[in-house]
Amino acid sequence: MKNTTIYDCKIVELKKIHNRAGNITPIENMQDIPFNIKRVYYLYDIPSGEERGGHAHRKLKQLLIAASGGFDVKLDDGRNKKFVHLNRPNIGLMVVPGIWRELNNFSSGAICLVLASENYDEKDYIRKYNEFKKLKNI
Ligand code: TYD
Repeated sequence: MKNTTIYDCKIVELKKIHNRAGNITPIENMQDIPFNIKRVYYLYDIPSGEERGGHAHRKLKQLLIAASGGFDVKLDDGRNKKFVHLNRPNIGLMVVPGIWRELNNFSSGAICLVLASENYDEKDYIRKYNEFKKLKNI
């Protein structure tokens, strides 16, 4: 997590199976994403103007998907920042460990689906930006 950068956080284009009755995007462990999925959760009913995230992780890898609506993701490795707008259900954003992330500008009805490589563990969170910078040797 010490040496990861925002450039390790890649957009992943997921399959889209399209027909006249709508679309399906399947995500299979280790095949469509480069980690084993241990946990799935989703953010929804986010009041307008609210921000989520505001932390980094020591070990956790995540794939963020705008399953409905859209939102902005700010990624920060302590040196560089990058902004990504997610608004397509077949596009994922891979977030590696050691990246500070903030999510905001959620559209009404937005759903942020998160596939995660680890079970929930509060000890994996870095919630203070100062501590994050220290861990990144900045
Ligand atoms: P947090 O990850 O800080 O939310 P966000 O990054 O979306 O702003 O989690 C908010 C709260 O939810 C926190 O008290 C921990 C709890 N939580 C779980 O119990 N299990 C989980 O899998 C997640 C993601 C959060």
